[in-house]
Amino acid sequence: MIRRSSSALTSCVDTSLCWTELLTDDAMGAELGALNRWPLGSFVTRFAARFNISDFVETGTFKGTGCTFAAEVFSSVTTIEINRESYESAQNSCSSKNIKFLLGDSATVLPDVVSSLTQSAMFWLDGHSGGGNFGPDDYCPLLAELAAIANSPFPHFILIDDARAFVAPPPSPFQPEKWPSIAEVLETARRSFPYYCVIIADAIICVPPAARAELVQFCQEVRPKI
Ligand SMILES: C[S@@+](CC[C@H](N)C(=O)[O-])C[C@H]1O[C@@H](n2cnc3c(N)ncnc32)[C@H](O)[C@@H]1O
Repeated sequence: MIRRSSSALTSCVDTSLCWTELLTDDAMGAELGALNRWPLGSFVTRFAARFNISDFVETGTFKGTGCTFAAEVFSSVTTIEINRESYESAQNSCSSKNIKFLLGDSATVLPDVVSSLTQSAMFWLDGHSGGGNFGPDDYCPLLAELAAIANSPFPHFILIDDARAFVAPPPSPFQPEKWPSIAEVLETARRSFPYYCVIIADAIICVPPAARAELVQFCQEVRPKI
């Protein structure tokens, strides 16, 4: 999660041509990467209601802010955290009864969570930076997470935080070889379903084709000018 009020990263990905276009929008004023704030919070509540989604899965619990918000929207929330301290403290501070906290590396824990789903779910893939900040030791489990989701028979709604870390190689002290390119991210995400994908408010959002028109409308509302 990062906080800034300008220079939002915005891009649109055409599903057939698979090109990316990077734009900045100083007028957007969004709180980027915050699931419980506009515009991502609006996306979550709107798409959950419109497409009748009751399951939410998060990678990277941290303080539990994202999953606590999700617990107000979805009947079932699962969150995975690699850091024991964060896992325990989030569990102790979140009172919502419909959150299942799991400890472990999302790359190995997520496949079982995905197999247990019986319908389309919403995913918030945010477990790729330690303690909310990128560091040289952070590695990115995103491709493994997306591969696990692609093994599901159901089309899902996928939000990936920190698009800026994938649209261009991260600078030092990151280890760029540990971070997939935007092409690898989209190819893996779209391995089983022809998701419509956009990048907006520093998030990569992939939705089933049936939800394309709704996502187009959402983007036009979030970003009325380019
Ligand atoms: C930006 S924070 C998550 C914020 C949270 N999703 C929210 O919306 O409030 C990133 C978290 O991901 C965790 N993390 C990093 N790598 C992970 C991995 N491979 N599996 C699970 N969690 C991971 C970090 O320990 C950190 O707590």
